[in-house]
Amino acid sequence: MTYEAIEVRTEAGKVGIVTLNRPQALNALNDQLMDELGAALKAFDADPAIGCMIVTGSAKAFAAGADISAMAKFTFKDSYGSDFITRNWETIRTIRKPVIAAVSGFALGGGCELAMMCDFIIAADNAKFGQPEIKIGIIPGAGGTQRLPRAVGKSKAMDMALTARMMDATEAERSGLVSRVVALDKLMEESLAVALTIADMPRLAVLAAKESVNRAFESGLSDGVMFERRLFHSMFATHDQKEGMDAFLGKRKPAFKNE
Ligand code: CAA
Repeated sequence: MTYEAIEVRTEAGKVGIVTLNRPQALNALNDQLMDELGAALKAFDADPAIGCMIVTGSAKAFAAGADISAMAKFTFKDSYGSDFITRNWETIRTIRKPVIAAVSGFALGGGCELAMMCDFIIAADNAKFGQPEIKIGIIPGAGGTQRLPRAVGKSKAMDMALTARMMDATEAERSGLVSRVVALDKLMEESLAVALTIADMPRLAVLAAKESVNRAFESGLSDGVMFERRLFHSMFATHDQKEGMDAFLGKRKPAFKNE
């Protein structure tokens, strides 16, 4: 498939990288871009050589939100009737391998929501996160009112959604929205190092860890703990558990087979 709104490449044959590429609109997320992003991530997910993915933007903008020009004239019927926004934004939730958001510049509205749909966020020191939809007469529409409070707590999420203020990278790390902050010129290098580390981990354990952490957001504590326990038990059916523990005890490097 050829892409126009994104660029797609691989690194070391095992990390899939998608770069959002609508610089003229600060990577505003339109249907074409979201369709292409979904297709690219699904292709990487299906490729056995790929162990981790990165979604990134430009130095100035990860993404400045859903494309306002595409929705300015929408009626309720256009929006609700066509399942606008959520239709092609849900694909990323179906991806089973880890997806890292490497964020520099603006991650606003749908851009912040897209970053939060990824498994974790590595931010450049110039990153700015926000849900400014209220300023244009709408509210977040791709999970912002749900994922932001889970990430930073109710008070900061309310503050951001109601006043449209942006959170800088330092505050985002302090608040738990991002996992690490790095210098802008090191963003891809550091994100790639993290992605390669994950890609070299035993694949079945990676899938299970992602699935189990995500379960924490979808269920109560008892259900989540039981889900984790069963996945934990199932790891003992894998080759890589035997190999990992044997290598540890034998003080040697493990040779994982992803099975
Ligand atoms: N949609 C469409 N175009 C956008 C855009 C968006 N979300 N954000 C920026 N652009 C365009 C601008 O219109 C401008 O285009 P032109 O050069 O043709 O005029 C170009 O990108 C550059 O933007 P600015 O000139 O505004 O750049 P700036 O540096 O002065 O400001 C900014 C940067 C603060 C990010 C500003 O562009 C901005 O506020 N953007 C909108 C942010 C926003 O409201 N996002 C929420 C969208 S709604 C949403 O996302 C719904 C949802 O929950 C899914």
